Amino acid sequence: MGNHKKSIEFPGDEEAEVLEITEEEAPEAIPPKRPERKPAKRIQFNPFINSIFPVLLLDKNMKIIFANRACENLFTGFFYLEGRYFIDIFGGSFEIEDVRNIRDAVTLGANGYSWKGMARMKSRDMATIETRVYLFIADMNIKNPSEFAVIFDDVTLENRRLLRSVFMSLLEASKLKDNNTGKHITRVNFYSRRIAEEFFKSSGNARIDADFIDNIGFLASMHDVGKIGTPDDILNKEGPLSKWEWTIIQEHTKNGAFILSTYPNPMAKDIALSHHEKWNGTGYPFQLEGDMIPLSAQIVSIADVYDALRMERSYKPPFPHRATVEKIMEGRGTQFNPLLLDVFYPIAVDFNAHYEENKDKKHG
Ligand SMILES: [Fe+2]
Ligand SMILES: [Fe+2]
Repeated sequence: MGNHKKSIEFPGDEEAEVLEITEEEAPEAIPPKRPERKPAKRIQFNPFINSIFPVLLLDKNMKIIFANRACENLFTGFFYLEGRYFIDIFGGSFEIEDVRNIRDAVTLGANGYSWKGMARMKSRDMATIETRVYLFIADMNIKNPSEFAVIFDDVTLENRRLLRSVFMSLLEASKLKDNNTGKHITRVNFYSRRIAEEFFKSSGNARIDADFIDNIGFLASMHDVGKIGTPDDILNKEGPLSKWEWTIIQEHTKNGAFILSTYPNPMAKDIALSHHEKWNGTGYPFQLEGDMIPLSAQIVSIADVYDALRMERSYKPPFPHRATVEKIMEGRGTQFNPLLLDVFYPIAVDFNAHYEENKDKKHG
């Protein structure tokens, strides 16, 4: 009684376990065709050629008549630009309302033939780019302009930095609360990223792209932020937990989802909520099964269990690498998605190397 398995199957404390996945076929990436660059003959004097800002020039039909070199860098791997229609290429990067306003600016002279706003561009093998966009007249003919400039200001890094700094604060707060996990959370980032990268390479799973890999490599660390809401006496209790205490511990998944629910990327919430679900539907909090469990959470669960097993905890000795891998492989189809274990097994040596290089000092 009362002696409930705080960590029977995987002593990963309340941290380890979870997963699921899905396989989809990845569409073959189409290598961008890049015809020989022909100088745009119509443009006599072009002040944008050497600009560090990516600049396009459009004619009044919104056909791209020039793209400077900075454009080629920003949109590498996207598409060849000159000679194509701006909306055909970038239409999907704007809100529909914005597309209409851009058209009105160019064709009707709305807002003095100018427009500014945001665009988000994405290709499968590159992370999303977020840019501010400015469109304005590029020739001297203010009454009846025939050329327009579009300048892109890449704010991807700025935005990401801002967002991440907010979440770093949250992580720091949770570390104060649960201070015996040391570098665990940053190691889990590394393992999760490795599994995602490898899964992408091996299966081309359509749910994984450059953004997924980048995001999971940061958001995996958030899996236990919900422990901020767990009472200290339960969180730090040594020895077996009562059934009731165990129930309280499990609440950290829902608390985490609640805390992260405003994060623009739902992956943060998915990981916090579902990293203790199990492939066969015996996990918590919702007993999700198989691919009902978000892929990100399936991945983090393997990473989390690996690290939790390696660490020394008050209720368990540290497991060596080999034994840890074996233990995880025993969870094939029960705790873990078999496809993900197929990916994990051959790269597990990387996990060991990373753990050894980044282990917490107090555990020799
Ligand atoms: Fe957890
Ligand atoms: Fe953990």
